[in-house]
Amino acid sequence: MTIIVTGGAGFIGSNFVFHMLGAHPDYRIVCVDKLTYAGNLSTLESVMDNPNFRFCKLDICDREGIDKLFDEEKPDIVVNFAAESHVDRSIENPEIFLQTNIIGTSVMMDASRKYGVKRYHQVSTDEVYGDLPLDRPDLFFTETTPIHTSSPYSSSKAGADLLVLAYYRTYGLPVTISRCSNNYGPYHFPEKLIPLMIANALADKPLPVYGKGENVRDWLYVEDHCKAIDLIIHNGKVGEVYNVGGHNEMKNIDIVKLICKELGKPETLITYVADRKGHDMRYAIDPTKIHNELGWLPETKFADGIKKTIKWYLDNEKWWKDIISGDYQNYYDRMYSNR
Ligand code: NAD
Ligand code: DAU
Repeated sequence: MTIIVTGGAGFIGSNFVFHMLGAHPDYRIVCVDKLTYAGNLSTLESVMDNPNFRFCKLDICDREGIDKLFDEEKPDIVVNFAAESHVDRSIENPEIFLQTNIIGTSVMMDASRKYGVKRYHQVSTDEVYGDLPLDRPDLFFTETTPIHTSSPYSSSKAGADLLVLAYYRTYGLPVTISRCSNNYGPYHFPEKLIPLMIANALADKPLPVYGKGENVRDWLYVEDHCKAIDLIIHNGKVGEVYNVGGHNEMKNIDIVKLICKELGKPETLITYVADRKGHDMRYAIDPTKIHNELGWLPETKFADGIKKTIKWYLDNEKWWKDIISGDYQNYYDRMYSNR
């Protein structure tokens, strides 16, 4: 079995590569990644010499390069993680989001059709459903919740999802889609809430909370997401969407306070800054379908997962310090100074 995993040098993709090489020692995993600012080859260091692993530096929009790779590898399954993934960057500059997230998806699906892959899996997000109000805790996103996006990022992911379902109906491409809630864990790029707050707290720098910090996200440990995708590509029904989430809703401000507590840092570091434009209030996944159909349940409780994650950042300072000492500093200054 050969699986092409795009975006495997990023946060979730790399965790998925590790999971698959461990869980299926007889599979060949071919990672395709353009190595944008968010891709990091050092993340994959531990598997580079694994004979069942191949890394290809390639843009998913590069039709010729992708065709050549499919011709060489003759993949059975494609799992498309590759994307521009940060909402704030999409607000600053939407175009690259449309290019990678929509055009890149179409290139990957065209190659999948041409070479007759048995499954094309699209890694999507709960953000395609828009947001829920804070005063309706009874409401959750199900697979039939209408698409209703807020940011250029979520719109580009929704566009890709529609295209994936169109390729299923029009060409009969055997597709599945997963829509997961917020992930956390090792190798999470420091521009995102949890690693950003850990890195800033460790440096005694201000912790920039958008708006009032009341926004709610539904956090899932990254390994649980990887296990869900593993189940979907093997047992999921073609043409179906599966929501993935662990019923773990938390307000941003409570996450930041918890990080302060775990690191022994004062809450006076918390600084309220101007809100994100179009900021989604609450995400909350109903995972009943994947539980009932595929038997998936999250295994890591947030209380344990956040401790493991903080420990990982303490033990792997070089990984994230190399990132934040480079070009990232320009991004940080652009995004946070004078905010
Ligand atoms: P990430 O930004 O950490 O990693 C993205 C990876 O894709 C990077 O390695 C990058 O180099 C690569 N990439 C970007 N453009 C590319 C291109 N044109 N060609 C090839 N590679 C390219 O993202 P992540 O947080 O790991 O998210 C992975 C996927 O999961 C995305 O599709 C995202 O929408 C989805 N998702 C993320 C979350 C989350 O909480 N992080 C939750 C649900 C769904
Ligand atoms: O829900 C799934 C999505 O989760 C994925 O599709 C996205 O790829 C992923 O980036 C994530 O999107 P969010 O916008 O929810 O994640 P982010 O870490 O950027 O922000 C989480 C919350 O924290 C959000 O309400 C904004 C807030 N925030 C974020 C940052 C970076 C702050 O208050 N301060 C910050 O500095």
